[in-house]
Amino acid sequence: MTKKLYIETVGCQMNVLDSELVGESLCAAGYTLVDNVREADTVLFNTCSVRAHAEDKVYSALGRLKHCKKTARPKIVGVIGCMAQKDRDLIFKRAPHVDLVVGPGQLGQIVELLQRVEDGQEQQMEVSLGRADDTLHNVQRSFQPYDPLRGEHFREEASPSTPHQAMVRIMFGCDKFCTYCIVPSVRGPEQSRGPEEIVEEARQLAERGCLEVTLLGQTVNSYKHTAGGKTTRLADLLYRLDDIADLKRIKFVSNCPKHMSDELLQAVRDLPKVSPYLHVPAQSGANAVLDRMKRGYTVEQYREMLARIRETVPGAAVTSDFIVGFCGETDDDYQATAELVREARFKNSFIFKYSTRPGTKAHELFEDDVPYDVKRWRNNDLLAIQNAISLEDNRPLEGRRVEVLVEGPSKAARKKADDATTVQLVGRTIDDRIVVFDGPIEFTGRLLEVQIDKVDAFTLFGSLVGSGE
Ligand code: 5AD
Ligand code: SF4
Repeated sequence: MTKKLYIETVGCQMNVLDSELVGESLCAAGYTLVDNVREADTVLFNTCSVRAHAEDKVYSALGRLKHCKKTARPKIVGVIGCMAQKDRDLIFKRAPHVDLVVGPGQLGQIVELLQRVEDGQEQQMEVSLGRADDTLHNVQRSFQPYDPLRGEHFREEASPSTPHQAMVRIMFGCDKFCTYCIVPSVRGPEQSRGPEEIVEEARQLAERGCLEVTLLGQTVNSYKHTAGGKTTRLADLLYRLDDIADLKRIKFVSNCPKHMSDELLQAVRDLPKVSPYLHVPAQSGANAVLDRMKRGYTVEQYREMLARIRETVPGAAVTSDFIVGFCGETDDDYQATAELVREARFKNSFIFKYSTRPGTKAHELFEDDVPYDVKRWRNNDLLAIQNAISLEDNRPLEGRRVEVLVEGPSKAARKKADDATTVQLVGRTIDDRIVVFDGPIEFTGRLLEVQIDKVDAFTLFGSLVGSGE
């Protein structure tokens, strides 16, 4: 009898990719994926620790499974990912019915660990060393790379995106230690994957019909791999990937402002397949805050970097992240952030209310002293400023034609009857703008011309040009 598996994923694209890989490995080991908890024999929560809210939601969901596990499905409950690494056996204490805790650096063992639980062994926990627990070398080794080449046991049902798009990890971990951020503790030291392995993975994906790869790294533009006296950086990697004939688009996220080199920007400008979409989080527009965050740049340096982007890659879609209400952020500091957003004209920004994280320097050193209401006000205010700019940024596309990679039916279309021949489709432009238009579902995975009729701050609405052939 096949075992039914449900994976609930929260957090960033790195987690989405990990869930995809875990899903593929477990499908190869005889599981089938189902899309809700009630049908599943085994449930895995792939978790995020970046903000407290994401953790609270997982603990509540675990609580809800307590009774159901005794009487009905699911029989096995596991917690994987960042919260598993951060909370470790605390998870068993808070939720004693959990069978399995596996950190992001141990996911390669998931098949075996689940097998042990199925065989009736006690609760299983595998996590990496803490960053201060041992030498850097040993800590690094304890975060085991988890990128099984996807050619062998690729399972389409394990991929949340279409088979025409894929994420490819090029580095793990982070060494920046921004004071608010838990990532360096839970994802371990920065380690870059070898270029041969990355290129081979992208080549295999392209052979299977993948048109777009998104390269992932916590600070993807600090990618650096040295072997045999040769150093490969992100720009070099982009040249190699651009050569893969069947691949049509290459994206990369997330960038660190300090590593936005001229070589990289020139590669983005010169390589036709590389998306002119650059996500470069600023986090704040006030030097005092950037300093306490230990971001390693001033707002003047960030502006200078932006100017280089605008000069080298004209028309690039630049996006950012901001944290509002960080420890000690004054009204003037916040206004400096608002000013940066007005001036920088980001395509869009992700805005977060500061959430203090035990285990970080900010938690240890600074008071989380901005009241929640003030954080919320600043969040809404900044969002309103950004949304007005996003709308203005999309406006010139009205009446123009854009090339779209079709990702599939929109959420609304998926809910409707599935016998319709024409549905609402969603796709993206090469610079990561979302496009919605009507067309046959079989157009999923194609590159098509769409005429844009109207726009809002987040979406371009259009119609297919010709028959789409
Ligand atoms: N509180 C709020 N937002 C945070 N981020 C990282 N850590 C925190 C935190 N403690 C945000 C940053 C980062 C994004 C992925 O999450 O803006 O770029
Ligand atoms: Fe966190 Fe800073 Fe590393 Fe980004 S660069 S993952 S914000 S520590």
